[in-house]
Amino acid sequence: MAIYILILNSIQIENFRNITKAKITLGEKLNLVLGVNAAGKTSFLEAIHFVTTGRSFRGARENTLINHNSSFARLVGTIQSREGERIIEMAFDRQGKKRLSVDKVSLKRMSELLNLSAVVSVAPSDIVIIVGPPDNRRRFLDTVLSHCFPAYLSSLSSYTKALRQKNALLREQGGTDFKQLDIWNKQLTEYGEYILSKRLLFMDFLKKRGKEIYYSLSKNEEVEFAYSGSFAFHKRETIRGDFQKALNENLKRELKLRQSVIGIHRDNIRTTIDRKPVRQYGSRGQQRCAMISMKFAALEFMERIRNEKPLLLLDEAVSELDEKRSVNLLGLSASVGQVIIASTFQPREVKLDSKTKFFEIADGNITPLL
Ligand SMILES: Nc1ncnc2c1ncn2[C@@H]1O[C@H](COP(=O)(O)OP(=O)(O)OP(=O)(O)O)[C@@H](O)[C@H]1O
Ligand SMILES: [Mg+2]
Repeated sequence: MAIYILILNSIQIENFRNITKAKITLGEKLNLVLGVNAAGKTSFLEAIHFVTTGRSFRGARENTLINHNSSFARLVGTIQSREGERIIEMAFDRQGKKRLSVDKVSLKRMSELLNLSAVVSVAPSDIVIIVGPPDNRRRFLDTVLSHCFPAYLSSLSSYTKALRQKNALLREQGGTDFKQLDIWNKQLTEYGEYILSKRLLFMDFLKKRGKEIYYSLSKNEEVEFAYSGSFAFHKRETIRGDFQKALNENLKRELKLRQSVIGIHRDNIRTTIDRKPVRQYGSRGQQRCAMISMKFAALEFMERIRNEKPLLLLDEAVSELDEKRSVNLLGLSASVGQVIIASTFQPREVKLDSKTKFFEIADGNITPLL
């Protein structure tokens, strides 16, 4: 079966951070965007990420993305995906009004784009996936899986809704309405089972491929990724029963603390290098390599599940990596589909070919270089 490649053919940007107007046609393989600090490189990648996923890769809010001198921002992207060519148009203003359409048909939620597209971005701020609190790691898993399984995001939002209502009940009434509490717990186990089973599917892949990718970046270190759940389960098939059992066993604790303490919203990924937690002991370069291994494993996983190579965005990919690791990283990105790299300098390690497209960016103005 032929494999598809997700390609962003072109993007129009209006009033997005320091880019007031741009209309860019991208190359289908490697695109290199060069510019000095504060030129607009991250803004450009963020605009691309936003138009393809409906989200900022830094978790920035829409109104901070609107140019200081404007009341709205607008993005139009033309993508070529496994479903054919699509035109994605979006606009948002300072009052929080958003518009999103695909081929002129409006969509309610930005998150609906996650199923349409497949994108992996690697930016310096992604280091939080390793060093930050666990919610960053859960968000990473949830983003990857939302791109892979159409039902994942809706299960997650149903889970979150039930959790919010359960917490409100525990907080306000001390959880005395046991019948209602039971209803929320049933929903948590139902949606939680699906979410956890998909997370474990990716974790199996990450454990193996993440380790190999890390090894290819750095030959003499062993990384291990492990999923750490808030309740013990015997096998995949028993998740729901085990989850319910843990909820029953922790009922008193939840009533006392007046909040939910068991569930997939408490889970984590633990990462070690040579058996030491990389979050506490890893060097910055090691932490960055661990994060990159997770991202590249995610890229390959998405490719397998979707039968489509995702778009790869690299923001200052090689900063904080020594020469050997940089060479190895850029060797890895050779096997992927469309890549957009933003950098202050032309990385020596990047293999250029006739398909490589260069852009220069200065003061928010992007120009193709011939
Ligand atoms: N909402 C906004 N409106 C206008 N300008 C903004 C907005 N948000 C950020 N900027 C500015 O846009 C400029 C470009 O920022 P950006 O992060 O894209 O630079 P960069 O090229 O990635 O730089 P670096 O090499 O330092 O990472 C900066 O001067 C930044 O302060
Ligand atoms: Mg930047």
